[in-house]
Amino acid sequence: MAKKKITTNEDGEENRLVDAGNTTEEQQIELSLRPQYLREYIGQKKVKDNLSIFIKAAIARGESLDHVLLNGPPGLGKTTLSQIVAREMGAKIQVTAGPVIEKPGDLAAMLTNLEEGDVLFIDEIHRLHPAIEEILYPAMEDFELDLIIGQGPSARSVKLDLPRFTLIGATTRAGLITAPLRGRFGINFHLDFYPIEDLEVIVLRSADILKVEIEQAGANAIARRSRGTPRIVNRLLRRVRDFAEVEYDGRITLEVATDALNRMEVDRYGLDEVDRKLLTTIIEKFNGGPVGVSTISAAIQEEKDAIEEIYEPYLIQIGFLNRTPRGRVVTPAAYQHLGFALRDENQPGLF
Ligand code: ADE
Repeated sequence: MAKKKITTNEDGEENRLVDAGNTTEEQQIELSLRPQYLREYIGQKKVKDNLSIFIKAAIARGESLDHVLLNGPPGLGKTTLSQIVAREMGAKIQVTAGPVIEKPGDLAAMLTNLEEGDVLFIDEIHRLHPAIEEILYPAMEDFELDLIIGQGPSARSVKLDLPRFTLIGATTRAGLITAPLRGRFGINFHLDFYPIEDLEVIVLRSADILKVEIEQAGANAIARRSRGTPRIVNRLLRRVRDFAEVEYDGRITLEVATDALNRMEVDRYGLDEVDRKLLTTIIEKFNGGPVGVSTISAAIQEEKDAIEEIYEPYLIQIGFLNRTPRGRVVTPAAYQHLGFALRDENQPGLF
């Protein structure tokens, strides 16, 4: 079944050509917290409302759902939404990711295994190899697979009919999707960071599933420090539960949550060590910027892609970082939060 080649995505999760289904206990808990139906999914109201209409309309017409492109930062529920779509449509889902599809044959095998109405989920679709992306065009548009058999003068082109399936592509970098691919998605959604109120409801729901006693103020403290991200809120809840069980009476109060989060060095804005290093480096070495992302990447020894896809979107969203044509600039709010005196305007940043 699944190929052995394993890579990791930007969340450090393993990607397999096809999800082999073997998970650690932590991952299994995470899976148990995921909503199964649209009505259980908290937040992203506009996406949910519209998706619900498109699903109902497709079911009423007896058709497969149009192809869906989901974009937004990691951990906001793109995979979860795709699984919900498949369940709501009464269809099966195949899960894979752009970087692990190496050969045209890999994709051809997946497409020919699909049944009518199935969902094919391709995570990190912006990382598909161009030759593989081209196979998707006729598959998405005409439900046809164009294969070249043989080589040289005897090479022949063969067309195979595919069942009408729904491709759901997820990306953290909408700007990197090519125009021909983007144009073939009939439904295009952007997922935003979640407001604290929604994250608080997610913590309470997850605590209920995990059978952890929690006070609203404790849930609020965890929500505030979760960078607008459900995956982080659920991870922090599990870690705070550890503190509550080992050092307290098991109940998550505001005091327990605050103590645990402080001891894990998750600060008031949910910044972790890398966020702080990124901002501090720009302030100390580049006088607050502007500075290019490649220079930042070299200075803090983090991958450029991880900076652009994971760290920057949240820092920009909370107003700690700006992207300008000349590079990244740290804002006065970040100076204040990190305890630095405001930048020296007379000393230009390095480029
Ligand atoms: N768990 C993770 N994301 C969720 C969401 N959006 N709603 C409910 N539970 C979740």
